[in-house]
Amino acid sequence: MKLKYSIIISLVCSLVFSQNKDFVPGKQWKDNDGVHINAHGGGMLFIDGTYYWYGEYKTAGRAGNTALEGISCYTSKDLYNWHNEGIVLRVEENPASEIAKGCIMERPKVVFNKKTAKYVMWFHLELKGQGYNAASAAVAVSDTPNGPFKFKKSYRPNKGVWPINFKDEFKTASIDESKLKSWTPEWLTAVKNGMLIRRDFEKGQMSRDMTVYVDDNEKAYLIHSSEDNLTLHISELTADYLDFTQKWTTVAPAGHNEAPAVFKQDGVYYMITSGCTGWDPNEARSFKSKSIWGPWQSLGNPCIGKDAELTFYSQSTYIFPVQGKKDQFIFMADRWKPESPIEGSYVWLPITIRNGKPVLKWLEKWDLNAFREKR
Ligand code: GAL
Repeated sequence: MKLKYSIIISLVCSLVFSQNKDFVPGKQWKDNDGVHINAHGGGMLFIDGTYYWYGEYKTAGRAGNTALEGISCYTSKDLYNWHNEGIVLRVEENPASEIAKGCIMERPKVVFNKKTAKYVMWFHLELKGQGYNAASAAVAVSDTPNGPFKFKKSYRPNKGVWPINFKDEFKTASIDESKLKSWTPEWLTAVKNGMLIRRDFEKGQMSRDMTVYVDDNEKAYLIHSSEDNLTLHISELTADYLDFTQKWTTVAPAGHNEAPAVFKQDGVYYMITSGCTGWDPNEARSFKSKSIWGPWQSLGNPCIGKDAELTFYSQSTYIFPVQGKKDQFIFMADRWKPESPIEGSYVWLPITIRNGKPVLKWLEKWDLNAFREKR
């Protein structure tokens, strides 16, 4: 009887609420139950005709990152209307667990591994009570896209290995770096010359804001803010996507980039990032490269129009292709609300390449037909 009622209620809800026909960036976005979508810092996966949106699941009444309950998943066929699949990886009650309640899980990205037929989730993990000091990448696995995901372990990538673009002379300090004052030109040069890579060589490199990119040849990469968020690292994943091959490189040393999101069009890799101002919005940056290993060319702010200098009050999290359409990519970003994280909203915009550069133009409201206009 109970089951019957819940089926009827859910049917009525979907009839009443599943009416989204467009994207309305920055506004409340209701799921099929009429509840604002709770999948912050998210990522997207497309499997067998269904989009899976994974994100940070926050609870009401708690601020900042203490609001975290786990990683949520939503499904959709059309990208406008979303069904809540629930929490697919939950923080654990066991205080000894690496994902004990009180830990910080951010920016989950799920990819499908064709060889193992497993769904692999990577996310940024900070251990309970340690602020942002752990700076680890964590991995969880599931047999199905809607979970449950089983936590495997967390890593500081690339212990004891130099990046492939590291000069031999950077392997030891050439000056006394201990006396350098942070943010002076000398200090920034020392960072560019590997000061922080050397500092973390034994314990592994930091991994905070991150994304995962799977290339056409199925090779996958973790792209993460490292070195106290000063430099991005690209770390190749093993064939099962569960570990690192130890092949890695740096992007924009001392450039202070966060929130990386990557896509590829016509053989060129593009990356959008943000600056580092915590939950506050800042000006986005963009890069391109002919190889994932660089060199990455800096292209400046991809946003145009009003509030372009603040990424339309949002911060990048992921870029994904619209299925079955050529060169149609959607830029996903978060408009954070740290005082009430559950109310944080989503800014999705079409991203296009104009004169060899990615461009993001603000739209109050749009649908997938927007890609047809000559931009
Ligand atoms: C942002 C970062 C978010 C979160 C936040 C915490 O810069 O992109 O993912 O870590 O800082 O202050």
